Amino acid sequence: MAAPAPGKSSYWVDSTPQTRYPPLEGELDVDVAVLGAGIAGLTLATLLAEEGRRVAVLDSSRVARGVTGYTTAKLTSGHGLIYAELIARFGERGARAYADANQAAIERVRALADRHAIDCDLEQATNYVFAERDEERDRLRDEVDAMQRLGLPATLVEETPLPFPVAGAIRLTGQAQFHPRKYLLPLAEALRSGGHAVLEETRATQVDEGEPCTVTTDRGLVRARDVVLATHLPFLDRGLYFARAHAHRSYALTAAIDADQAPEGMFINVGTPTRSLRTVAAEGRRLLLVGGEGHRPGEETDTDRRYRNLESFLRERFPAAGEITHRWSTQDYLSVDRVPFVGRLTPRSRHVYVATGFGKWGMSNGTAAAIVLADAIAGRENPWADLYDPGRLKPRAAARRFATENASVARHLAAGRLAGLGRGVNDIAAGDGAVVRVGRRQLAVHRDDSGALHVLSARCTHLGCIVSWNAGERSWDCPCHGSRFAVDGRVIQGPAVADLSRAEA
Ligand SMILES: Cc1cc2nc3c(=O)[nH]c(=O)nc-3n(C[C@H](O)[C@H](O)[C@H](O)COP(=O)(O)OP(=O)(O)OC[C@H]3O[C@@H](n4cnc5c(N)ncnc54)[C@H](O)[C@@H]3O)c2cc1C
Ligand code: FES
Repeated sequence: MAAPAPGKSSYWVDSTPQTRYPPLEGELDVDVAVLGAGIAGLTLATLLAEEGRRVAVLDSSRVARGVTGYTTAKLTSGHGLIYAELIARFGERGARAYADANQAAIERVRALADRHAIDCDLEQATNYVFAERDEERDRLRDEVDAMQRLGLPATLVEETPLPFPVAGAIRLTGQAQFHPRKYLLPLAEALRSGGHAVLEETRATQVDEGEPCTVTTDRGLVRARDVVLATHLPFLDRGLYFARAHAHRSYALTAAIDADQAPEGMFINVGTPTRSLRTVAAEGRRLLLVGGEGHRPGEETDTDRRYRNLESFLRERFPAAGEITHRWSTQDYLSVDRVPFVGRLTPRSRHVYVATGFGKWGMSNGTAAAIVLADAIAGRENPWADLYDPGRLKPRAAARRFATENASVARHLAAGRLAGLGRGVNDIAAGDGAVVRVGRRQLAVHRDDSGALHVLSARCTHLGCIVSWNAGERSWDCPCHGSRFAVDGRVIQGPAVADLSRAEA
């Protein structure tokens, strides 16, 4: 009999203890309120605390359980093919700022792990961006030229430690990989023991700028001189970030592998579908992590198929790999020009900041964001601030561009609605879900394994798009800006802050 599929928790979450920080109670006054306890928020809070600021970190869920708990955790400046494009778009100065920021971020992770004596399986690793097809090789050559001009230690090679041939690869030395929760949980604990507030299960719903600023949450109120939205995509619509970045969901799995079969290094291909690989030091044994199969949330209902595709790749390319130990999926936000948004929330903001749009490279970009924002809050110059400045893209122009780009989503949405029209509640099998039309309403209907129906309004509480059923994760996902909701309607991931409302079938 086939072994049962492993649950959908990441190796990072499974191999570390659950945190239990209290929620906010009543009111709190601090120098800086950091909203979101992922890598961006916790790193920033740590840097601010080191400078003597009183900090509160608030998370609607738990520490490092957002995207950061489900990442691949490569710490590299080798972000696929990006530098030739950045030079074309921002000139050599802008592209150099991106390279420098990410290289410095890797060093900052090393320094923080050292300073706090954190054992987070941090390993030096070489990063490879590889091509499997001859026609992709020219793109590698252009990229290596760009990287070398920017001072990155990149070379073009014809072989990699992978057990299959490649047409070429960019080899970037001096990079690293780690366990993100083993790194961040001690930073959160150091904040708490240093007298700072780490607050879980506290959802921020509103930020009013003033002196001080006030953060309204579902638990109480925080007053702070400065507020940072490190909530992944900001839940405030000010600044139209939802129109300047789009969500992209990907999948990962880990399988046991003998140490002598494990390829040494971190790898990502330039073709499609994406295949991202690294190994993981897992309590005395080695795991191989394979990631990829990205798509916009809500555009795929058979998300289990994505895991099957990854497993087929694994079995074909690594026949000696053992059983699948974990599989999971998560999503990140990609800005329209591939550079994150880090800085003042809007051009008029004086004390409200944002860090988002890390483009699936938030381990280094999120750390760089923390450095940029710690400088901004202290009033110091930062050499990367101009590049990351959210004001570089005018929201309205970006919104227009986004609207064009999003025409496919709109089409998909329409198609999804039409597809749903044919289905009635009785057509939904146990474990399944679908959007069905009842009268003039569109309802998100899930039938659980016991046969009971859970009926919600299908209208996303962010801006009203119609959610789609995600069979793999058993969630309702919004194709417009990536909000996700549990089968009981609870928000799993913003920008939505309100739950889907219950309805009657
Ligand atoms: C499949 C995949 C693989 C990846 N692999 C890599 C990699 O190898 N290397 C790399 O550099 N990057 C990688 N990334 C990207 C990286 O993981 C992310 O960019 C990064 O983790 C984002 O960190 P964050 O702190 O911004 O967000 P999060 O970790 O999501 O933290 C945000 C926090 O805010 C909280 N929150 C949300 N709304 C509210 C609210 N209203 N009030 C209070 N709290 C709130 C959430 O609960 C969450 O804990 C990958 C991304 C994906 C999707
Ligand atoms: S996330 Fe914006 S409308 Fe759903």
